[in-house]
Amino acid sequence: MSDQPSLVEMRNIRVAFGGVHAVDDVTVDLRRGEVVGLVGGNGAGKSTLMRVLSGAHPADSGEILIDGKPVVIANPRDAKNLGIETIYQTLALADNIDAPGNMFLGRELLTRDGSLDDAAMESATRNVMQRLNPNFKNFKTAVGWLSGGQRQAVAIARAIHFNARILIMDEPTAALGPAETAQVRGLIQQLKAEGIGIFLISHDIHDVFDLADRISVMLHGRLVGTVDKTAVTTDEVLAMIIMGKQPEQVTQSDLAELHS
Ligand SMILES: Nc1ncnc2c1ncn2[C@@H]1O[C@H](COP(=O)(O)OP(=O)(O)OP(=O)(O)O)[C@@H](O)[C@H]1O
Ligand SMILES: [Mg+2]
Repeated sequence: MSDQPSLVEMRNIRVAFGGVHAVDDVTVDLRRGEVVGLVGGNGAGKSTLMRVLSGAHPADSGEILIDGKPVVIANPRDAKNLGIETIYQTLALADNIDAPGNMFLGRELLTRDGSLDDAAMESATRNVMQRLNPNFKNFKTAVGWLSGGQRQAVAIARAIHFNARILIMDEPTAALGPAETAQVRGLIQQLKAEGIGIFLISHDIHDVFDLADRISVMLHGRLVGTVDKTAVTTDEVLAMIIMGKQPEQVTQSDLAELHS
């Protein structure tokens, strides 16, 4: 443990939709180079909590601190300015454009005479990709033709080229096969090594155990708890997700029920 403030702290966040407490007094944090798995059943409030951090939805109350300082995140632009980027499941890529074109979509590099600087954009894309995924070679292929794992790499490259320090990944491997999932796991390890913090939403408990350092469990809008991955078993996390129990409260009959 260090005295450094967390990269992100979300304190006592609440979001209600009409009578539904989608996020109910939730406190989570994320450190540099850390992956925090955010897990819970359908409707637990995971995406809503992360939409607050990405500026897509305002919290009704609560506080957000970045590097220990309170910040206001009123819209996606505020979040991006703070280095917070979201990798959406749909990836938000333009399928008919190549990787460099997607990296710089809406933020194109221009030559001095004002035309597109394709060479500079390709070279910048190669540089980022070299760090992330050295096997990536398809710089001139429309991304619609790339594999799911490669598309994920393009989306992540775009985020980190524009100085993301905090990544939100909502189900990054949900639509991928085993080989591509392995590729995305490699990407996440690389991002961690660079000190980027990642909130990883996943329904796949094995993904979470592979990738996360800590696991925050939500149920019905509330935080059940946050645990160190090395201190719990998958069964204990399942009991948190399904029964809302703390690991030390889980009994033999709970475990039997989980497996029935
Ligand atoms: N825009 C909205 N309007 C009304 N209710 C919403 C809205 N977004 C989410 N909710 C409700 O808030 C609760 C939490 O939803 P949320 O999408 O955050 O859950 P989740 O944990 O991401 O679930 P899933 O695993 O299914 O993606 C649910 O009851 C959902 O129906
Ligand atoms: Mg969701």
